[in-house]
Amino acid sequence: TPPDTIRNFSIIAHIDHGKSTLADRLIQRTGGLTDREMSSQVLDNMDIEKERGITIKAQTVRLSYPAKDGVTYTLNLMDTPGHVDFAYEVSRSLAACEGALLVVDAAQGVEAQTLANVYQSIEHDHEIVPVINKIDLPAAEPEQVRKEIEDVIGIDASQAVLASAKSGIGIDEILEAIVTRIPPPKGDPTAPLKAMLVDSWYDPYLGVVILVRVMAGVLKKGQQVSFMQAGTTHLVDRVGCFRPKIEQLTDLGPGEIGFITAQIKDVAQARVGDTLTDTKRPAAEALPGFKEVQPVVFCGLFPVDANDFEKLRESISKLRLNDASFSFEMETSAALGFGFRCGFLGLLHLEIIQERLTREYDLDLITTAPSVVYQIELTHPDPAGITQIDLHNPADMPDVNKIKTISEPWINATIYVPDEYLGSILKLCQDRRGIQQNLTYVGGRAQATYELPLNEVVFDFYDRLKSLSKGYASFDYQQIGYREGDLVKMSILVNEEPVDALSMIVHRGTAEVRGRGMVERLKELIPRHLFKIPIQAAIGGKVIARETISAMRKDVTAKCYGGDATRKRKLLDKQKKGKAKMREYGSVSIPQEAFIAALRMG
Ligand code: GTP
Repeated sequence: TPPDTIRNFSIIAHIDHGKSTLADRLIQRTGGLTDREMSSQVLDNMDIEKERGITIKAQTVRLSYPAKDGVTYTLNLMDTPGHVDFAYEVSRSLAACEGALLVVDAAQGVEAQTLANVYQSIEHDHEIVPVINKIDLPAAEPEQVRKEIEDVIGIDASQAVLASAKSGIGIDEILEAIVTRIPPPKGDPTAPLKAMLVDSWYDPYLGVVILVRVMAGVLKKGQQVSFMQAGTTHLVDRVGCFRPKIEQLTDLGPGEIGFITAQIKDVAQARVGDTLTDTKRPAAEALPGFKEVQPVVFCGLFPVDANDFEKLRESISKLRLNDASFSFEMETSAALGFGFRCGFLGLLHLEIIQERLTREYDLDLITTAPSVVYQIELTHPDPAGITQIDLHNPADMPDVNKIKTISEPWINATIYVPDEYLGSILKLCQDRRGIQQNLTYVGGRAQATYELPLNEVVFDFYDRLKSLSKGYASFDYQQIGYREGDLVKMSILVNEEPVDALSMIVHRGTAEVRGRGMVERLKELIPRHLFKIPIQAAIGGKVIARETISAMRKDVTAKCYGGDATRKRKLLDKQKKGKAKMREYGSVSIPQEAFIAALRMG
C-alpha cells in the first residue's frame, strides 16, 4: 500500500461518549462486515470474537474507503484503552498514528479523561478531528460543546463534525475528514526495517499475536526479526491485518499497521514499545519511547477457603498469559495463610483482575490493603551490601532504626467537577495531603490540578470523589516521581496480636486519624466473643488508638432457656454458618468483609 493512501488514526473519547458505536459505524459503512455480523458492537464484544474468529483484542481494524476524490484509502482505526492505568499502552498506540478523532458527547461536554488523552495526542503531533456525537439527543448542545472544546482544550473546533453514531448522521463527513485532514504516514521502504510493537496478546489458536506499526523498511513473512529491547530473534511465520476478520498478507510496508506471529511462547517476551528490525540488516538504533512497565500498586490476594489455593494459583497463571503487566508471587500471612502478592498498573487494573478471578474463576478472595511501592534508604548497607530497597509489602518493613529515609510516589491529578461540588472536592484533596497546582473555571465547571501522594489515592479516593460529587467529578493522573515523606508503619493489633494483612504505611500527620477510623470500624465489624477484645492501632510500640469489644454477656443458647431443642440447634447452626466466612485469628474470629471494609476511610 502506498503510504499516501494510508491514514492511521485513533479515537479519543470519554467513557460512554460513543467510541464503540462510532467505530462500528465506520466499519459498517466501509463494508468490513455484513449487517448481520454488525448486530452487536464489534470492538466491545468478547463473544463475537470467539464465534466468528474476529480478533477484538487487536482493536485495530483496517478499512477500505473510496473517497470523493476517486482514490480508495486504507484507514487503520486503532482503538486505545481508555484508562489512566494503561497510559503507556495508550502512548504507544498514539505513536502508531498520525491523527485522532476526538469524540465528545453533545449533552455531556468535555471530561477529564478526554483531556488527558487529547493532550497526549497533541504531544504526538496528531491532527485532531473533533466529532460532536449524540446530536440526536434532546439535551444535545452542540454549539456549547464546540465552544467548550475550543476553550478547554484549545483546538480549533469550527470544523467539528456533528454526528450521531447511533442514527448514522455525519459518518460520511467523518470519513472525508479523516482522509482530507489527517496526514499520511511517512517512511522509507528501502531503509532497514523498524517496526514498533504496539500490543501483544495470547490467542489460543495463533499463540502470541503481535500488533505492529512499520516505521521504515518492510516486514515480510519468512523474515528473521530481532526485538531490539528484548534482545531476542524470531522467525515471522504469519503477517496480516484485521478487517476485522483476519486477512493474511505477505508483507507490511512503511506506515502500515498489522499483525505478525512468530512462534513466541509468552506475552512477556513481546513488550509494548519494543522495536522489531531485520536480523540480517538491522537498524542502527531502536525507536524512541520504550519503557519497561512496572506495577505500581500491590496487594495480597488470599483464598477465603484455604483449599482453593491451588485453584487460585492456576487462575492467576491463566490471567497472566494475556497480561504481562501484572505480577504475582507467593506470600504467606499468619492471618490469611497461603496466597499471592500481586502487582498492578493501578487500582482499576487491580479491580479488573480481582473481578475476573471472582467471576470467571469463581473464587472467594480476601484482598489486603493496597499499597504503593516505597523506596527505603537504609542507614547501613545490609549483608548483601544494599542500601536502598523497594518495599512492596508493609509486612516487610525494616526496623525503624535501620531506616534513613522513606520516599513515596507522587502523582499529578486533574479533577474536573461541576462548581457546586468543588468545595468538598478541594477539602478531600487537602485531607489527602494534596498540593494545589491550578484551579480554573469553564462554563459552570472547575478544573483543579493537584499533586497528591499516590498512597492517599489508592484506597478510596475515586469512590469518595464520585460520592461527594454525585458521580459528576472525573479524575485522571500521571505519576511524577518519588518524594521523601514522614512515613511510618501502622500496625493493627487484635487481642494484642498484630494482624499483618491490616498493617499499612501512613503519613505520620494523618496516622492518628487513620488509626482511629480503623479501630472504630473494626469494633463494628468484629463480632463479640466470650472475652473482651482490645483493638489497637500502633506505631512502633506506641498505641495511637484503641477500642475494646466487650465480652458477650450470655451464651446465645441462653435465649432458649426452657429448652426448645430444635430452636437451640438452629441457633447453633446459624452461628456455625457465620463462622465459615470468618478467619480465625489467634482466638479471635474476623469476618471476611472486615478486611476490606476496615480499609475504607471515613
Ligand atoms: P466505553 O466502551 O464504555 O468506553 O463507551 P464508548 O465510548 O465506547 O461508548 P459506546 O459506544 O458504548 O456508547 C455508550 C452509549 O451511548 C451506548 O448506550 C450507545 O448506544 C449510546 N450512543 C452512542 N452514540 C450515540 C448517539 O449518537 N446518540 C445517542 N442517543 N446515543 C448514542
